[in-house]
Amino acid sequence: MLKLKTHLLILIIFLVNNLYSQNYKPVPENIKARNWFQDARFGLFVHWGVYSILGDGEWVMNNQNISIDEYEKLPAFFNPIDFDPKEWVSMVKQAGMKYITITSRHHDGFSMFDTKMSDYNIVKSTPYGKDIIKALADECRKEGIKLFFYYSLLDWNRDDYFPRGRTGKGIKGRGEGKWEEYISFMKGQLKELLTQYGDIGGIWFDGHWDQKEWDGKKFGKVKVDWHYDEIYKMIHEIQPQALIGNNHHIGVIDGEDFQMFEKDLPGNNTTGWGTPADQIGSVPLEVCETINGSWGFNLQDRKHKSEKELIHYLIKAAGYGSNLLLNVGPMPNGKIQPKHKTSLKTMGNWLKENGATIYGTRKGPIPPNDDFVSTQKGKTVFVHLLNPEIEVIHTEAVPVKIKGIYEVKTNTKLPFRNDNFGLAIDVSALAKDEIDTVIKIELR
Ligand code: GLC
Repeated sequence: MLKLKTHLLILIIFLVNNLYSQNYKPVPENIKARNWFQDARFGLFVHWGVYSILGDGEWVMNNQNISIDEYEKLPAFFNPIDFDPKEWVSMVKQAGMKYITITSRHHDGFSMFDTKMSDYNIVKSTPYGKDIIKALADECRKEGIKLFFYYSLLDWNRDDYFPRGRTGKGIKGRGEGKWEEYISFMKGQLKELLTQYGDIGGIWFDGHWDQKEWDGKKFGKVKVDWHYDEIYKMIHEIQPQALIGNNHHIGVIDGEDFQMFEKDLPGNNTTGWGTPADQIGSVPLEVCETINGSWGFNLQDRKHKSEKELIHYLIKAAGYGSNLLLNVGPMPNGKIQPKHKTSLKTMGNWLKENGATIYGTRKGPIPPNDDFVSTQKGKTVFVHLLNPEIEVIHTEAVPVKIKGIYEVKTNTKLPFRNDNFGLAIDVSALAKDEIDTVIKIELR
């Protein structure tokens, strides 16, 4: 009897432990990949699907309440004959980006890759008939660019995405299937993504928030079991170096390797639904942002960000110790909008000159603001002066021993003080750059 009790106790302890403890320990390949990821600092996000035909973003099915049978007419018109993976990857390299994250399947449920799990995919149901993910993966491998797959947890098309979430309520023709079947469908597709395209950078999940209760003011509990434990375990087993991130807008869940911040610098939460500052984890960070105002191709989006804004965002992200994943929405013919290509090229030119102050850095000791941002590599701190009007850079005292402070371009030595009143660097004598004047602090 006593023995049985002890056994029972051990069993209970084991179960509770498994439920609540952080079990995941990244293997060395994964840690190496995390370091690579942090050093990379800049990637391209690609939102591409049959929705691009309608030129109204990737949420068009929900926003215009397009019924299932209406939306299912789209694949027959999707024929991106001008898609050229070489052109995309060369654009990425010229922009100074190190990786691409592309939508393998978005909320509309249409798969942009060759999947056996459903015929609703680019190979089976478009006149194009080819796997663009395969073509891109091959080109990326050739050119040393890593490829990540965005994967939507939420689905507006499938019956087994049931119970339904908060979105897509006005879409007619949705059926009622079994959640467990949906989970095994996703697992099947993820297995394909992890076995058909060689080593990948990682998986970027999105849509978790669709299943959160919402009272019109704030989010409540998640209604379903996403089976993250099994899904994450499967991914790490098949490709241990593949990094898992989930755009769930909450703190890191056990098994995740990086944390993303949608349309916000880490912890700023200006959107109101983003991840709050107290939930920033100790994993690598990534900020994602649109190059205009939309993720998927939007014909009438005129909110193209200026080149200065884009470069500043990259610098600021680095100042938060974060990557920037900057998005383009290719057009239905497979081309990227010329204006976006130009902006990316300008960013690349800026990085050619200033890359050493961004790549391979971590966040610096001076907290970032709109006027200046700091990054650090070893014993060098780079201060990026974004506001050319500033005469004195003044911040809290930096608890380090400073050997000297110089402007990078001209190697001009700059007067400074670092005491109880804070760090003050006199930049009044400098001819400042409109975009960024880089100053380096050499530490002892
Ligand atoms: C949001 C949107 C989605 C987009 C994503 C990118 O979650 O639902 O359309 O893919 O943000 O961060």
